[in-house]
Amino acid sequence: MSHARPAGRAFPPGFLWGAATAAYQVEGAVAEDGRGPSIWDTFSHTPGKVAGGDTGDIACDHYHRVEQDVALMADLGLQAYRFSVAWPRIQATGAGPANPLGLAFYDRLVDQLLDVGIAPVVTLYHWDLPQALQDTGGWASRETAYRFADYAEHVARALGDRVHLWTTLNEPWCSAYLGHGSGEHAPGIPDPGLALASVHHLNLAHGLGARAVRGVLGESAPVSVTFNLQVHQAVSDDPADLAAKRRIDVIANEVFLGPTLEGAYPAEVFAQTSRFTDWAFVRDGDLDDIHVPIDVLGLNYYNTSRVGARRAPVAVDPDAPFVPTTAIGCEDVEWFEQPGPRTQMGWNVDPQGLTDLLLELHARYPDLPIMITENGAAFDDEVGPEGEVADRERTAYLYDHVDAVGAAMDAGVDVRGYLLWSFMDNFEWAWGYSRRFGIVRVEPGTLRRTVKDSGAWYRELIRAGRLPAVGAASTPAVRTSLDAAQA
Ligand code: FCB
Repeated sequence: MSHARPAGRAFPPGFLWGAATAAYQVEGAVAEDGRGPSIWDTFSHTPGKVAGGDTGDIACDHYHRVEQDVALMADLGLQAYRFSVAWPRIQATGAGPANPLGLAFYDRLVDQLLDVGIAPVVTLYHWDLPQALQDTGGWASRETAYRFADYAEHVARALGDRVHLWTTLNEPWCSAYLGHGSGEHAPGIPDPGLALASVHHLNLAHGLGARAVRGVLGESAPVSVTFNLQVHQAVSDDPADLAAKRRIDVIANEVFLGPTLEGAYPAEVFAQTSRFTDWAFVRDGDLDDIHVPIDVLGLNYYNTSRVGARRAPVAVDPDAPFVPTTAIGCEDVEWFEQPGPRTQMGWNVDPQGLTDLLLELHARYPDLPIMITENGAAFDDEVGPEGEVADRERTAYLYDHVDAVGAAMDAGVDVRGYLLWSFMDNFEWAWGYSRRFGIVRVEPGTLRRTVKDSGAWYRELIRAGRLPAVGAASTPAVRTSLDAAQA
């Protein structure tokens, strides 16, 4: 497949271009300045949980190299940096007074960003729950939602009105279902009942956290939540296939969209999951607490999947296609292989899915602006002698997805910005360092940063406000000036 693309569409002035990371994936310094252990420290140090036995102990050492990293962001022309605050740096055990040293790191980061004109986009929770809170039940426990609101208040006080956008949670789907369904993420407790309790307590944490931020900063404080809404394409228009799609949509998407944006759980979810829980954890008043107005919906998008009604019962056909353990109560849903191409994650590349999702969200919530808070791709980068990476597949992926966002905007969708994943190669959760999403290469061992060709391309996109062509190799001049930012 050719990766060449002609110069493409322009974006309106004010559209925010940026890049994202998350604390545990980049910071390292896990035992410094009073940081307590998180569930990802525990999980990554448990043999067999993370590829290669990798951990975030050092990661990209962003904690110590943050000044150079911000300089590199400025040199790339980023207009926004989406980072997450590590809860265990602020409260080592997830409760009690804030740790001033932990707050100071983010306080400095915000100032450094503002000094170079980069808007800070803060995620309060990107999966690194303090281990002490896991020990008392984690997200399966209601108490964790209250603790989250306290933590959010501490961070809001410290960072104040310097933050461009506050995101309560990143992808609660992953915390609930990868953490407690499949168990492939921390805390790694496969139990469908706990997964659903976690769904609700994460929703509650979002609502209480958003209220806590506004309690400190006023009602106009810009608040969002980031979902990784799953795009399930029905294999046919047959009513049985459409019903199967609805079942998986309910469990993957509607349990988050419903409470946060509409004030109710989808009615079907209770019957669909009655074998696992009676939902007694939903208390009077919770849905009001959860249903707080948000300013922007954050959307992380990578790929799509294809589903239909299961043709053969799972139990009698051991070779039947796998039912993901994240798809609770969806035993009658069958997954079909999507056509390629695929990234190194095995995820299919389907930019049209992003346009479709944006159009669907806009039709449903016409007044809610959207921000793409993650989108990007892992490929097996080939590294040249100077650390250079001519990552045309990644650049073409970014081009096509940015273009897909533009197509949705042309059709009337209010998209405010695009924050690609990721600013730099980092700890990719259960995949460790074996999967690289960065537009900046981080050399294993030395941790030296080198802008990839995709980074040089993105810099040009931001500078010009329009899609640059893909195909011509970056000029050495561009590489040199970008490398100079690290000196
Ligand atoms: C998302 C996560 C992010 C990163 C990308 C590849 O699910 O939010 O931290 O791992 O996937």
